[in-house]
Amino acid sequence: MTEDIDFEIDPENLPKRLERKPLGPPSVVVDDLHITYRVFGARRGGTTRQRTSLWDKAISLGRPDTGPITEAPAVRGVSFVAHHGESIGILGTNGSGKSTLLRAVAGLLPATSGRVFTSAEPELMGVNAALLPRLTGERNIMIGGLALGLNAKQVRESVPKVAEFAELGDFLYLPMSSYSSGMASRLRFAISTIRTPEILMIDEALATGDASFRKKSTARIEEIREKAGTVFFVSHSLASVRAMCTRALWIEKGELVADGDVDDVADAYNAFVEGRTNASSGAKLR
Ligand SMILES: Nc1ncnc2c1ncn2[C@@H]1O[C@H](COP(=O)(O)OP(=O)(O)OP(=O)(O)O)[C@@H](O)[C@H]1O
Ligand SMILES: [Mg+2]
Repeated sequence: MTEDIDFEIDPENLPKRLERKPLGPPSVVVDDLHITYRVFGARRGGTTRQRTSLWDKAISLGRPDTGPITEAPAVRGVSFVAHHGESIGILGTNGSGKSTLLRAVAGLLPATSGRVFTSAEPELMGVNAALLPRLTGERNIMIGGLALGLNAKQVRESVPKVAEFAELGDFLYLPMSSYSSGMASRLRFAISTIRTPEILMIDEALATGDASFRKKSTARIEEIREKAGTVFFVSHSLASVRAMCTRALWIEKGELVADGDVDDVADAYNAFVEGRTNASSGAKLR
């Protein structure tokens, strides 16, 4: 077997592998999704064009000329169906379109073309929990809970549970600006799992937590999956993806290059990354 490219996780800290469960009905259907960013004023990369259409002229009316518009395709014709009870890892090198895909499925980015159907409102961890640094952890938990649709009583009840999960200790009563980035991301994770969402999306969020927090988060993800939810998990840590997911999608340059069993896709991706690393170090030597 090939060696995993994973420097940050000690194998003995990894959770037990998730058990496979029979799949439920579809929860997310993505049909030929394209997302193209329009970058104003850029002059390199993508397809650059002058503002010639009536639409372009209309939207730039009265604004200083910011130069040509560059169209940067980030997701190109991705299609897949996710089911209840599945946890799906998303692999791909930097800039391959993973975060863009998650944001589009979560409804935070409009599709340039193609369609996304979801059986419930997906919750993208860390984005929905927009925390306010000047407020205390306690206040942020309350705001986060309200934003997730809890009522005042439920919010009050959730504070001790969330604080305990995030291991805040006395920091609960201090402004978040005094938190380390790891503490802030633990709190974000804890807030986003107050409610058990039907579709949970996690984008690299566990990278800053320490090993024991990762174990706890994995247990929480498993709980969500048990309740027939769907979990999407973007991570550069192949070992975490292998441990937490049953299926993986591999995206490269915005295109879906593999979709299947987590081990098969992770092996193929690992071989690709190692091939690239060897090729680039060979080039340097020459
Ligand atoms: N707001 C934006 N405006 C213009 N281009 C963007 C924007 N966000 C991302 N891109 C571009 O879209 C492509 C995909 O980016 P994305 O962030 O989805 O990649 P990623 O797979 O999440 O990368 P990483 O592993 O580094 O997080 C990249 O080429 C990136 O430069
Ligand atoms: Mg990303």
